[in-house]
Amino acid sequence: MQIKEVAKELNISARTIRFYEKQGLIQPAKKPENDYRVFSEEDVLQLTTITALREVGMPIKQIKVILEKPEMTLQEHLEIQRTALLEKWVEMKDMLETLDEMITRTSSTEFSYQALYPLAAHLKKIKEIRYQWTDRWNFDGQAHKYDQRIKTEGHVFNVHEGYEAALAMVENIVQKGREATCLDIGIGTGNLGSRFLSYDMKVIGVDQSEKMLEKCKEKHPEIECRKGHFLMLPIIDNQIDVIVTSYALHHLPDEEKLLALEEMTRVLKPFGQICIADLMFVDEVHRHKVLEGYRERGNTVAVESIEDEYYANQALLVSWFEHHGFLVETYQFNDILSMIYAKCKK
Ligand SMILES: C[S@@+](CC[C@H](N)C(=O)[O-])C[C@H]1O[C@@H](n2cnc3c(N)ncnc32)[C@H](O)[C@@H]1O
Repeated sequence: MQIKEVAKELNISARTIRFYEKQGLIQPAKKPENDYRVFSEEDVLQLTTITALREVGMPIKQIKVILEKPEMTLQEHLEIQRTALLEKWVEMKDMLETLDEMITRTSSTEFSYQALYPLAAHLKKIKEIRYQWTDRWNFDGQAHKYDQRIKTEGHVFNVHEGYEAALAMVENIVQKGREATCLDIGIGTGNLGSRFLSYDMKVIGVDQSEKMLEKCKEKHPEIECRKGHFLMLPIIDNQIDVIVTSYALHHLPDEEKLLALEEMTRVLKPFGQICIADLMFVDEVHRHKVLEGYRERGNTVAVESIEDEYYANQALLVSWFEHHGFLVETYQFNDILSMIYAKCKK
């Protein structure tokens, strides 16, 4: 085929095709007598791939990698692009919401320019929080032994005491529905999310650790694994019926936890459910009492372990849910492990 024919078939310009050639994405043969390009069936197929990937905003550089070195699968590349687009989208959404609020304020009779600054400062803070989280626990490094460690480690201070009961309770309390979508955030190797597969539910697992996701996929190929973060879920609005999470939220400080709840609510369908089984104290008084108890017994392992993470203040989370239109139930397994079940009223 000649360049004009290909351009017509793919609904792109000949100039675009020449640009792709210049970037090294395609190398059509040339007729020796006049240097006209001749596109083989394979070239056209390659061009359709390039066109499709460009249409979803993939940079030329990344497309080149896909075409040249198939080390990663096309699916993996597409997932990277989805994450990149969603990040931009969440950022745009934050900006638009702030802009809306700014517009509302300008219509107030008491409006002054200073009223805009706190909104901008809040937006800046949210942006910083979204990007500053780092994995200081090295979950990638823990992934291959994670499941064995749950059962064997921690005799001086066992955070996993009650783990199985907690997962079973989450499974039990959540209203399940065939073909409903369950999202497990911080899914790790899939121990909680996989429980919902037997109810014919679609399970999506999100985790910031690629190695954890690899393990999860290996154990439960039916789970759709997506790399992502509590503060920026790789999911568009109102898609999820049930969100579950176990032993993951306590890696975020309390202020970020509230942002994570907001993010969960964004992706939740009307009347959706959120169930959190995690390390938490009932409130600050309880936290103080439990820590004092460990100190008195000389259990420094427990104290250090608790202080190294961000065990939640359950009262804070419950109050957030209640203020945002959820019916809430709580259940305490032991001094450090509890569950919050929240169902959206509309
Ligand atoms: C202790 S493991 C729990 C795994 C699993 N939920 C379970 O119950 O066995 C914590 C998991 O949460 C993930 N995680 C921690 N912080 C996260 C964050 N901010 N966003 C997404 N995943 C996170 C870690 O990568 C890890 O896989």
